[in-house]
Amino acid sequence: VENFLWIKDDNKRLMMQNLYNKAKADHVPIILDEAARMIDSWLLLLKPTRILEVGTAVGYSAIRMALVSPISKIDTIEKDLDRAKEALENIQHFELVEQIILHEGDALELIPEMTQEYDLVFIDAAKGQYGRFFEDAMKLLRPGGVVICDNMLFHGFVEAEEVPKRYRAMIKKLRIFHETLMNHPELETRILSIDDGISISVKRG
Ligand SMILES: C[S@@+](CC[C@H](N)C(=O)[O-])C[C@H]1O[C@@H](n2cnc3c(N)ncnc32)[C@H](O)[C@@H]1O
Repeated sequence: VENFLWIKDDNKRLMMQNLYNKAKADHVPIILDEAARMIDSWLLLLKPTRILEVGTAVGYSAIRMALVSPISKIDTIEKDLDRAKEALENIQHFELVEQIILHEGDALELIPEMTQEYDLVFIDAAKGQYGRFFEDAMKLLRPGGVVICDNMLFHGFVEAEEVPKRYRAMIKKLRIFHETLMNHPELETRILSIDDGISISVKRG
């Protein structure tokens, strides 16, 4: 369980603990602890100035990234209006409105309209659509930039022989997306079996 000891400010640490506890209690699917710590480390090394996040939920990962990397400006997209509303309240509560810009809507419609160049793209939304989010976001990624995707192994089913029927279509798409990442001529990709599986891809510079 997270203890947020890396947050030096006592008040902020308590706020973060409360945000985390509430998200868990409400069954909001937030990034798991090990994967989050891995992303923290990458942010500390990469020092990205512009981040695009696909899938805000209630803002936990965006707020975490903003606290870990105060130099980063984060655009985050959420299509569920109730979650987006809660995310905005959380971002305001943390006084991070200057650092995190929340875009309400479907990433599949919003990303193609964006023109900003990003140093890092974090994809954490509908698993069956990763290929499409990726295609669109790749165009905004600067050379040398990084794409991180969560849930790449989806409870181990992506690598399993037997997949429950209800997951089959989505797992098939995730497997195709694996291939896309691994064979992409502009990317170097590694997939880590941390938590639900996390990929890191670097765009050749
Ligand atoms: C796993 S949650 C995100 C968790 C968040 N990144 C965190 O760790 O705190 C995935 C979110 O993506 C949103 N989502 C799914 N498809 C989307 C789309 N096409 N455009 C925007 N948001 C989407 C869902 O509504 C959901 O809230």
